[in-house]
Amino acid sequence: MTPSTPAAASAPAAVPLASSPTIPKAEIHMHLEGALESELLVTLARRNGVQLPTYDPEVLDARYRFGELQDFLDVYFDNLAVMRTAEDFHDLAALYLRRAREEGVVRAESFFNPMVHVRAGVPLAAVMEGYGAAFADARRDGLSCDLILDFTRDLGAEAADQMLTDIAPFRDMIIGVGLDSTEVGYPPVLFRDVFARAEADGLHRTCHAGEEGDPEYVRQALDDLRVERIDHGLRAVEDPELLKRIAGEQIAVNVCPLSNVALRAVDRMEQHPVFAMLEAGIPATISSDDPAYFGGQIGANFAALEAIGTPRDVLIGCIENSFEAAFIDGAERERHLAALRAAAVS
Ligand code: HPA
Ligand code: ZN
Repeated sequence: MTPSTPAAASAPAAVPLASSPTIPKAEIHMHLEGALESELLVTLARRNGVQLPTYDPEVLDARYRFGELQDFLDVYFDNLAVMRTAEDFHDLAALYLRRAREEGVVRAESFFNPMVHVRAGVPLAAVMEGYGAAFADARRDGLSCDLILDFTRDLGAEAADQMLTDIAPFRDMIIGVGLDSTEVGYPPVLFRDVFARAEADGLHRTCHAGEEGDPEYVRQALDDLRVERIDHGLRAVEDPELLKRIAGEQIAVNVCPLSNVALRAVDRMEQHPVFAMLEAGIPATISSDDPAYFGGQIGANFAALEAIGTPRDVLIGCIENSFEAAFIDGAERERHLAALRAAAVS
């Protein structure tokens, strides 16, 4: 430890950066399957006798260079072949939840993609048992966390509807539904009836829209799916009327800066649409999306915005937005916001 000197003792205490783990955060746009780090991928491949192109985690990581969303999804879905048993799902979720807590996350709302696992022959009960056990353990350790069922849009609306039926025995283990995977060609309106069923069942609703799809995808998510939040939403900035509407309705847009640069939805961080969104009064939030693939956890996403000079109060504002947008009750929201205020000034 450095001995304290009179000069150090009288220096003003530095306020922690938004990226600091001492600043409490909510992570509300993150895919559990996207937390499959190469080391765990190799462990699970060996455990289940699944062939990988290489068993060297460093070589696997080096392959993660993507030209667009579909390049990533191809690798992401290929890798999921290693997920077979409840123990595998437990280990993946436990890894993410541990990392999230290390980053200062106090509220985690995590997407999972059951349609992909069920199609690969994994019983839905194994998926839910494994994820459910890891989430229950984290809750016992004091983390507020919940699961959101993400429909895989390119498997179609009928399969999504079937999943909503099949999840009924596990209904209490999810708080909402979302829509992800290949966007262009699968507009939100195709899923109107499924989302209406989910809403009637008391589930929250969010949707990936405007990551690659044009502003009409975002409009459909709002009008046809009646979503409470938008994931990515980048291309909404092409439509000033839409931007104004999202700001007017105070719909949170859950942005993932490192993901957007990695998948080339955004050329350079300095040009990220999140700045135009915030300028327009939209309550944008920051999350990691798929931390094993895009260069870091939630803290690294904040750090990437800090590295280009984004003011600290803007980023603390994004954290506030994430607590406001979280699917939690008012008392919990106030508790997190008070803790954020206390940590942000100390
Ligand atoms: N976009 C669409 N689908 C996804 C993503 C994403 O960023 N991550 C995991 N599935
Ligand atoms: Zn996502």
